[in-house]
Amino acid sequence: MAIRRFSEKNLAREVLHRIRGTRNPRLKQVMASFIRHMHDFVREVKPTEEEWFRGIRFLTDTGHWCSGERQEFILMSDTLGVSMLVDAINHRSGGGATESTVLGPFHRRKAPLYPLGASISKHRGDGVPCRVTGTVRDRSGRPVAGAELDVWQAGADGFYDSQKGKAMNLRGIFRTDANGLFHFRCVRPEFYPVPHDGPVGRMLTATGRHPMRPPHLHFWITARGYKPLITHLFVKGGRYLDSDAVFGV
Ligand code: BEZ
Ligand code: FE
Repeated sequence: MAIRRFSEKNLAREVLHRIRGTRNPRLKQVMASFIRHMHDFVREVKPTEEEWFRGIRFLTDTGHWCSGERQEFILMSDTLGVSMLVDAINHRSGGGATESTVLGPFHRRKAPLYPLGASISKHRGDGVPCRVTGTVRDRSGRPVAGAELDVWQAGADGFYDSQKGKAMNLRGIFRTDANGLFHFRCVRPEFYPVPHDGPVGRMLTATGRHPMRPPHLHFWITARGYKPLITHLFVKGGRYLDSDAVFGV
């Protein structure tokens, strides 16, 4: 039923009624939920018009910060815990398997393929040398030979190579040996801040938060016949493990 007399109460119902002809059922479900939550939000918060425009200016600004190298909306989703929620819903490990976590903005395709034992660090000043060893196993504990590990990390200065130029450094691809083993050299991961010179940084400051991530190495592990795994390895006892800016621990 279409209504002509809008009220604070019946407006959401009318908007939902207007989208009843949406053909794609998933789109209809997503739009209906979004409309309901948005209307509930506004009814709860009761923004002044000035506050509403400020919110719109914030989102507009967030869009303006996006470029080929910078995705401020993903960063906002990361820092509000939404990326981790989407990740958790889509990669339920059910226990017994290494947990998945956010990809983050610094993965690059076509990192160099290295032999086991090689170092992903090309410059002396990258940080304190570190050796990483491990075994890729399937859910039943059997080693997986030929699994591909795409690894990347920030240097001790807190920056990824892509934040400094085009050259590839501190990233590489390794393949496990016949026993599922891998080993490589890198630099000891240090804590670092997510990009915080834009709207997300302002949001973090305004809400009393820091932009830091605890020391970690990124892994994207693939093997024929298995689902891919995107995960991190954290340094035991590292700073900010309990307050990761993107909730990825
Ligand atoms: C990262 O660990 O590289 C990262 C993840 C999410 C947002 C920013 C950085
Ligand atoms: Fe990282």
